[in-house]
Amino acid sequence: MSLDWKQQTIIVTGAYGGLGKELCYSLNKLGANLIITGRDGDKLQQLKQNLTNSTIVVGDVNSQEFITELLALTINKKSKGHILINNAGVSSAAFLSEQSRDDIKAQLDINLLAPIMLSKFLMPWLKAAQSGKIINVGSTFGAIGYPGFSLYSASKFGLRGFSQALNRELADTSVSVQYLAPRAIATSINSDKVNELNRKLKNSVDKPEHIVPQIIAAIEKNKSEKFFGFPEKLFAKINALFPSVVSNAINKEHETIKQILSK
Ligand SMILES: NC(=O)c1ccc[n+]([C@@H]2O[C@H](COP(=O)([O-])OP(=O)(O)OC[C@H]3O[C@@H](n4cnc5c(N)ncnc54)[C@H](OP(=O)(O)O)[C@@H]3O)[C@@H](O)[C@H]2O)c1
Repeated sequence: MSLDWKQQTIIVTGAYGGLGKELCYSLNKLGANLIITGRDGDKLQQLKQNLTNSTIVVGDVNSQEFITELLALTINKKSKGHILINNAGVSSAAFLSEQSRDDIKAQLDINLLAPIMLSKFLMPWLKAAQSGKIINVGSTFGAIGYPGFSLYSASKFGLRGFSQALNRELADTSVSVQYLAPRAIATSINSDKVNELNRKLKNSVDKPEHIVPQIIAAIEKNKSEKFFGFPEKLFAKINALFPSVVSNAINKEHETIKQILSK
């Protein structure tokens, strides 16, 4: 059954990022009421100019002030459906020996801790609607631990576990949790080195406008977990059952990964 998007109030974190912006445009076209968030007020203003029904909240997803401001705003933003899209994210591709303490902390704080805190503190608002949804934007690397992405993988594996457990915890409520995992997307989260790696390894890289309709379809179907892109979604399954098969395949790429990421 398709969602009545015009009856949804949707918080989007990382709203002016590559994927976030495209999500906002599409959700806006569907008639949703958006709360767009991010750290840069000017970029949010620019985005708002292209949307018909949106409110801005500026802040860092890891700050309590940001959550407090969202709580104050959402008290007056009631509709039939309430959705939180945890989309903000960072990735510092490098071997662990090259990751700084700040890089390590940022990836875990932004990709994992922030969605957990936002889910917790916005839960009363999510429960106040006829239906509430938490959409956690994951990654193929939340199912396949990949060299050079140990922190990013840790954060997305964690987000996936959190999503699954919380969804089951909320089974007797009107709130559901979905973990939606794209493969590589052409956005600025990927450094030049990662782009070079993707080219060299012939990894498919989706355009945001290609993946967003699939994300929206998965939200409508209320899929608790979905991996996008073939063969990546097959590798995710094989890795769960036979990780050594995937290790053997990845080991063949090891030298290339090392060369590019350590440049
Ligand atoms: N691109 C890919 O290859 C890919 C693949 C699979 C999954 N994903 C996931 O897709 C999501 C969106 O990423 P993207 O590809 O659109 O990357 P992006 O273009 O870099 O956008 C990320 C967004 O997150 C925001 N953000 C980062 N740290 C923040 C913080 N502390 N507080 C508030 N906002 C913060 C960024 O804002 P600032 O500009 O202010 O930092 C930016 O708007 C992420 O969860 C990512 O892990 C991406």
